[in-house]
Amino acid sequence: MTLSSFPGDTVTSCAPARALRGVEDLRAALAPARREGRTIGLVPTMGFLHEGHLSLLRAARDECDVVVMSLFVNPTQFGPNEDLDRYPRDEERDLRLAGEAGVDLVFAPEVAELYPDGFATAVEVDGGLTSVLDGDPARRGPGHFRGVTTVVAKLFNIVGPDVAYFGQKDAQQAAVIRRMVRDLDFPVRIQVMPIVREEDGLALSSRNVYLEPADRERAVALSRALAAAEQQARAHDSLAAGLDAARIELAAAAIEPEYLEARDAETLAPVAGLTGRPILVAVAAKVGGARLIDNVVIEPQGG
Ligand code: PAJ
Repeated sequence: MTLSSFPGDTVTSCAPARALRGVEDLRAALAPARREGRTIGLVPTMGFLHEGHLSLLRAARDECDVVVMSLFVNPTQFGPNEDLDRYPRDEERDLRLAGEAGVDLVFAPEVAELYPDGFATAVEVDGGLTSVLDGDPARRGPGHFRGVTTVVAKLFNIVGPDVAYFGQKDAQQAAVIRRMVRDLDFPVRIQVMPIVREEDGLALSSRNVYLEPADRERAVALSRALAAAEQQARAHDSLAAGLDAARIELAAAAIEPEYLEARDAETLAPVAGLTGRPILVAVAAKVGGARLIDNVVIEPQGG
């Protein structure tokens, strides 16, 4: 495939996307596009694509000349008791969906390609962003975000994207990556896209496949709780009223949250009330066999 022949327009090929396994292969494939000054968009994923991923791919297709998707279940962001071994995978389907979404190249390395013997470096964002919410040592821990920022920094260095796309679904991850990019001067624009949901409100996630039917029903309480939080916070001009409403929705579905917290959407600093800045209300809960996360941002009222 010669990237110089990519039109970068709306004509999308329905052939499966081509997977490249090696860092050097990917760099070589992108070299002509880079020489010609084409814009490169990167969508990092761990695969098992759903509409959430596809929304990022479509945004990249709309805005960039060349679209690269990475497909890599990154072991360093999984804790020892997490689901690395059973994380759902279907590369053939992912390559087909990527092709349909107009992805030009899929970078799908083996673990040893990104973490060869002797690998000894990490990129770590300060604990103010990475030791709270999912990064709390009692939950996934800061090591989770160290794994994310390390692999994303590597992907940025390998692909050299002009724009990289992330989902608001993982709000903390997006905030951490924005901070890494700002602090380390990565020459990339971070584009965060809205949460894609099922019709009943459940946020799409590769991990939803772990839900048994009855738990799938209960899981909708997360998005319902967040909607109630926003509505009640606005109605009473009180964040506490919003959080109370959310707790009631979760309790009604017999869901005990790992956390339900309100924080500044950019710095993730705790907030006591509505501050006039965007406020992230984030929830995590185990529902049956799945650990689910979801969030809403309460934007300040205009005026
Ligand atoms: P993964 O969970 O595969 O998600 C890839 C991207 O899709 C992330 O930016 C995530 O926020 C976004 N996404 C997932 N569900 C979404 C939804 N319902 N709506 C909108 N966007 C959604 O996040 C990761 O992989 C990894 O941590 C990664 C960044 C690839 C680093 O390994």
